[in-house]
Amino acid sequence: MDRIAITGGAPLKGAIPIYGAKNSALKLQAAALLSPDPLILDNMPDLADTRFMVQLLASLGVEITWIKETRTLRLHAAEIGSTIAPYDQVRKMRASFNVLGPLLARVGHATVSLPGGCAIGARPVDLHLKAFEAMGADIHIEQGYVKAAALRGLKGAEIAFPFVSVGATEHAMLAAVLAHGDTVLKNAAREPEIVDLADCLNAMGARIEGAGTDEIGIRGVTSLKGAAHRVVADRIETGTYALAVATAGGDVLLEGARADHLQALIELLGAAGVAVESEPRGLRIRRNGGRIQPVDFETEPHPGFPTDLQAQAMAMLCSADGRSRIRETIFENRFMHAPELARLGAQIAVHGNEAVVTGVERLIGAPVMATDLRASVSLVIAGLAAEGQTVVNRVYHLDRGFEKLEAKLAACGAQIERQKED
Ligand code: EPZ
Repeated sequence: MDRIAITGGAPLKGAIPIYGAKNSALKLQAAALLSPDPLILDNMPDLADTRFMVQLLASLGVEITWIKETRTLRLHAAEIGSTIAPYDQVRKMRASFNVLGPLLARVGHATVSLPGGCAIGARPVDLHLKAFEAMGADIHIEQGYVKAAALRGLKGAEIAFPFVSVGATEHAMLAAVLAHGDTVLKNAAREPEIVDLADCLNAMGARIEGAGTDEIGIRGVTSLKGAAHRVVADRIETGTYALAVATAGGDVLLEGARADHLQALIELLGAAGVAVESEPRGLRIRRNGGRIQPVDFETEPHPGFPTDLQAQAMAMLCSADGRSRIRETIFENRFMHAPELARLGAQIAVHGNEAVVTGVERLIGAPVMATDLRASVSLVIAGLAAEGQTVVNRVYHLDRGFEKLEAKLAACGAQIERQKED
């Protein structure tokens, strides 16, 4: 297993290209199952998770071509060869569960393993299943598998989500596009990834309106055609590098980043004393001298502050000039980075879903270990500002969601390298 060693203290200067969003790409990949014609995805990130989805889709009969130079993934589901997603595949990556809706909509049945919990929380899929039931599917859970059938097709339905779920909104869309009649999703998630999925599905011939608002209308069609779609820029990758520059200091242009997808983060950075400017080529982040100011924030569904940037923002606030309060409202166990940050000298008190971070003047490097993707990168960010060497173990978490992390940071002057574990 690899690890990443960082010697802190160097400010970051230069430009970092932002790739397509992992959390959009995974659902777009699943959308390929809906059409017998090819779906071409440009600006694809090349990550452990997206590769994993490629393997799963291949096992379902999808023909796949990856053109590395142009970051283009061609997915052709001329015929569906299997409708089973086994435990081993869904266990390793939760987003695999997203093949259920498209298979149900296209073929009328599917057997997909329940994902189970994960490090950041229980993460049930009850809202996904209720949405399919509302569309007329028979759902049974047997031996850890969801067996879903709608042999005469899905029917449009009005679905009011009791709380906002990104995954359930996307999954319901992925099924409703081929249902008979109209579906209305109320209290829908408004994340940019939802809009990206709707844009792609509409390019394939779907009729979706209202994506990006809390009410989405979908008029079912009988079939979808092929399309070419460019994956939206990754707002979490963008936010991560913005917080890295804020923490380490420096001046970096995040090329291809979208300011309109990151308003809550931009406000937080402004309050912390970091300059953010939207430029034609992307977002420019600057902090030259002066300590970070403390900021209180809580995570919320979009357009609120994203839970996927909470750990990275906490890393920045560890060396703020004062006390910050953070409330995590999306996942019940998403402060696992706090004790690891404490190993670098951070002062963090966690009480339930609240963390109080008392900024210290400097962090000191140490070996650390992380339990999930965003927690891992928060340790890299803290390491960039810490005195001496920080070694982040269990790098496979990082590889699930950050492509070329070390290369991108090193190109901006960070002292960072990947090492092979003994
Ligand atoms: C997506 O997860 C992202 N994953 C997560 O990113 C992200 O943190 C999350 O949205 C919130 O923005 C992908 O897109 C692959 P939810 P998702 O359904 O869809 C509860 C990362 O690091 N819930 O919006 O699973 C759930 O447990 C990952 O890239 C139910 O109770 O999130 C959570 O508390 C981590 N029942 C809340 O809702 C359900 O049926 C919101 O989850 C569904 C969700």
